[in-house]
Amino acid sequence: MSQYQPQQSSAWQELSVLAQTIHEQRIMDMFADKDRVEKYGIEVPGIFLDYSKHLVSDAVLAALLRLAQEAGVQERLQRVYDGEVVNPTENRAALHLAIRQASPRLSVGLSQKIDEQKTNLARISDEIRTGVWSGMKGKPFTDLVNLGIGGSDLGPRMASSALREFRLPGAPACHFVSNVDAAEINHLLRQLQPETTLVIISSKSFRTAETLLNAKTCLAWLGKSITDPHCSPHCLAVTSNRQAALEFGLAEKQIVPLPDAIGGRYSLWSSMSLPLCISIGYDAFADMLAGGAAMDAHCLTAPLRDKMPVILGLLGIWYNNFLKAQSHAVIPYCQRLGLFVEYLQQLEMESNGKSTRLGGESLSWTTSPVIWGQTGTNSQHAFFQMLHQGTNLVPVDFIGLVHDETSLAEHHRMLLANMIAQSEALMLGRTSSRQHQHYPGNRPSSTLLLEALTPRTLGMLLALYEHKVFVQSVIWDINPFDQWGVELGKQLAVDLVGQDGTRHDPSTSNLMRRTGLAGRG
Ligand code: F6P
Repeated sequence: MSQYQPQQSSAWQELSVLAQTIHEQRIMDMFADKDRVEKYGIEVPGIFLDYSKHLVSDAVLAALLRLAQEAGVQERLQRVYDGEVVNPTENRAALHLAIRQASPRLSVGLSQKIDEQKTNLARISDEIRTGVWSGMKGKPFTDLVNLGIGGSDLGPRMASSALREFRLPGAPACHFVSNVDAAEINHLLRQLQPETTLVIISSKSFRTAETLLNAKTCLAWLGKSITDPHCSPHCLAVTSNRQAALEFGLAEKQIVPLPDAIGGRYSLWSSMSLPLCISIGYDAFADMLAGGAAMDAHCLTAPLRDKMPVILGLLGIWYNNFLKAQSHAVIPYCQRLGLFVEYLQQLEMESNGKSTRLGGESLSWTTSPVIWGQTGTNSQHAFFQMLHQGTNLVPVDFIGLVHDETSLAEHHRMLLANMIAQSEALMLGRTSSRQHQHYPGNRPSSTLLLEALTPRTLGMLLALYEHKVFVQSVIWDINPFDQWGVELGKQLAVDLVGQDGTRHDPSTSNLMRRTGLAGRG
């Protein structure tokens, strides 16, 4: 049995009492405290967080901070940083922080291994971009196809899109294929030439059925034009499972290793970002790591009250566990962050969508909310109606850029004006004698302002949300680093292929018959 009992802590009980009356207060009235904007704002050079537009009084904030203290957030984060085994169900450390900046307490052997892999990533990405790798100097690859899914796709795909302005001259165009629906890969391959295409099979386990089937299809396409049986140097694998890659038919030199203790959804800091490194160069990638490390340093050293990720995490706890919000919207006002929400869905929901405590007991409080959203202003014309007048409480994170040199001044001003107007409208609402035009207001939001979108600030933003997720996992007493929940569906899908359908429940058998799956070899 765990010692820490969240619901029995005095902070939890105080928050339960405060939650009963908080809706009687108006957020706007809380600005009677002239220092609220100052007090409810945090700046880490490169990112500013305003959380003053929340249904949070000083008493609520103080109780939330006590909860974080009682749960041992600081100590638990230190254990991650120091490379301790923080993922007990897989008996592993979680080394994504160590890639950004190794703790002095990390073993020398481990630090060396991480450094070697970074040096290797820098070398190979450089050789590929310049054409040295393929032996085609002067005629490097024009296209790169990344085959991966989940963390082996979402992070590198999102970061490549967010940092597309940083693509170096001569770098290949990066394409990402994740779905086993062959319409995706067929459509892409029709546009590419095998002779100038590099295929990267990105799979930590090298056991993921979708990725391996896409790889088989893609290698068959390559093999028609390229005589080498394993399509070297047109094919590489990024994986922790060297043996499986060898058994698949790849040669040693085609394998880029990945440390086992880097979880899939945290792997964009590692060699899993090979496509991104090829595109923007290792130096820019190192800036992203440095941004992540800056957020780590902030989270490890700032006083609890000033830790940006702790505040974001605690706000989520307040709405989820005490005000019963079931979802959380994230709206980046930046089209280049268009894939950020999808990436965040895996980060938050695969990490914290759990109902078993670290010690193995069932828990009796709610955990991860549904994370959803889309870029502004598009989303304003899709689902903001519900945010303003719907019946569900949905806290919102707005994310905007102070400067954007890729945009045009007039467009950027309009984009920012829309973002700020939305947060104001959600909070203030508007009374009207016509009920349909009445906006209740008092709807909470955070606003995150990035100075600009660069590798460094992107790294900070990603580490910010990683730490937010971790803080929540500590308070909920769950392991954020495993993902057993996805295994059953994967196994059943493999079992279903080629069966006659008789061993299944009536609904499943019927669907197998109707789709022609039953009996197919
Ligand atoms: O489906 C869950 C998952 O295990 C993710 O955690 C992971 O990011 C993804 O599958 C891909 O796994 P792999 O990199 O081993 O192919």
